[in-house]
Amino acid sequence: MIPFIDIRAQREAYKSEFLKAEQDVLDSGCYIGGTVVQALEAELGQYTGAKHVITCGSGTDAITIALLALGLEPEDEVIVPDFTFIAPAECVMRLGGIPKFADIDAETLQMSAESVEALIGAKTRGIIAVNLFGQCPNYSKIKEIAKKHGLWLVEDSAQAFGAKQNGTSACTFGDISITSFYPAKPLGCYGDGGALFTHNDELAQKICLIANHGSRTRYVHEICGMNSRLDAIQAAVLRVKLRHLDEELKMRCENARKYDDFFAEYNNRTNSSSLSKGAAAKIVPQKIEHGNTSTYAQYTVLADNREAFLKLLEQAQIPYCIHYPAPLHEQPCFKKLAQTHESNSISQDCVASNAIEACKKVVSLPMCAFTNVEEIIAGLKRVM
Ligand SMILES: Cc1ncc(COP(=O)(O)O)c(C=O)c1O
Repeated sequence: MIPFIDIRAQREAYKSEFLKAEQDVLDSGCYIGGTVVQALEAELGQYTGAKHVITCGSGTDAITIALLALGLEPEDEVIVPDFTFIAPAECVMRLGGIPKFADIDAETLQMSAESVEALIGAKTRGIIAVNLFGQCPNYSKIKEIAKKHGLWLVEDSAQAFGAKQNGTSACTFGDISITSFYPAKPLGCYGDGGALFTHNDELAQKICLIANHGSRTRYVHEICGMNSRLDAIQAAVLRVKLRHLDEELKMRCENARKYDDFFAEYNNRTNSSSLSKGAAAKIVPQKIEHGNTSTYAQYTVLADNREAFLKLLEQAQIPYCIHYPAPLHEQPCFKKLAQTHESNSISQDCVASNAIEACKKVVSLPMCAFTNVEEIIAGLKRVM
């Protein structure tokens, strides 16, 4: 069976490096924080150009910590994309804030700057932009809007550590940027993990304080914080993977190119008549915007006739995922919010027609540096 993401092949490829790094931590007696975690933070800073890097327990923790550091208060509104993983909206809601759901661009699937601006009101405090599937939204526009309206910006780069926009590294666009080291991410560890990035000294201090029980001096707690930290063993795994990241990102791009060529050829070959034959109609890969490099955390296509395409994938025994089956404003947890905040009704405000449309068409295909795309394409050719 073809794996959706082949983490085991990656482990095999660098096994001796992993074993040495893991053994060194186990022998050190230092399992949380310490020199390995500090070394990773320094390397992540060098890689991205961010002045401060603070690792933590997960990407979700990182968003929560960022919101706390930026001073989110109950009833504050924060603009988030309608089409993404739940974490950004969930973290806002958890802290008593109100997520407002912005639409996406129909081709790149990234949060639309125009939609963000249309949602700004008197209670808006900030924007969480997501680097969806591995590429960045238009940060020059989003940053300009944030500046114009006096809003802070959090960059959620959980899916895009290693991506670039016009030569600038992801994880450096926000007042605070975050990433996730969940195992399936392009830079993933062997459990949960995350990191925050900022150029701002004051925010960096707040982040450290919040992530460490509100404490700078042992057993003196200035604020009520939380416990969110990266284990040394995870840091050791990440340091090995970081050494190979650029090479892996190139392999991901090559794999994406092979898929792109296949679907371009397929779309040329077939036309609308294929629909009547029950085959999938047009299948268009997520557009990568000029100036962006993607980590291809997901290789996602928009299939006009998704049902037919899924049947073909099943016939060819190719695994797939639907990222994401519903826009966030339709999730039961946010529908309830719309009822309690009638004047701020999320569903009434929401005009996220591109997000709604994308949810009906998206399909993600197997993708990592070790994915055998030729084998997948051969399988597809047999059925398409
Ligand atoms: C866009 C986005 N933000 C945040 C997260 C949360 O990261 P974690 O699973 O490390 O908490 C994810 C995880 O998939 C994500 O895709």
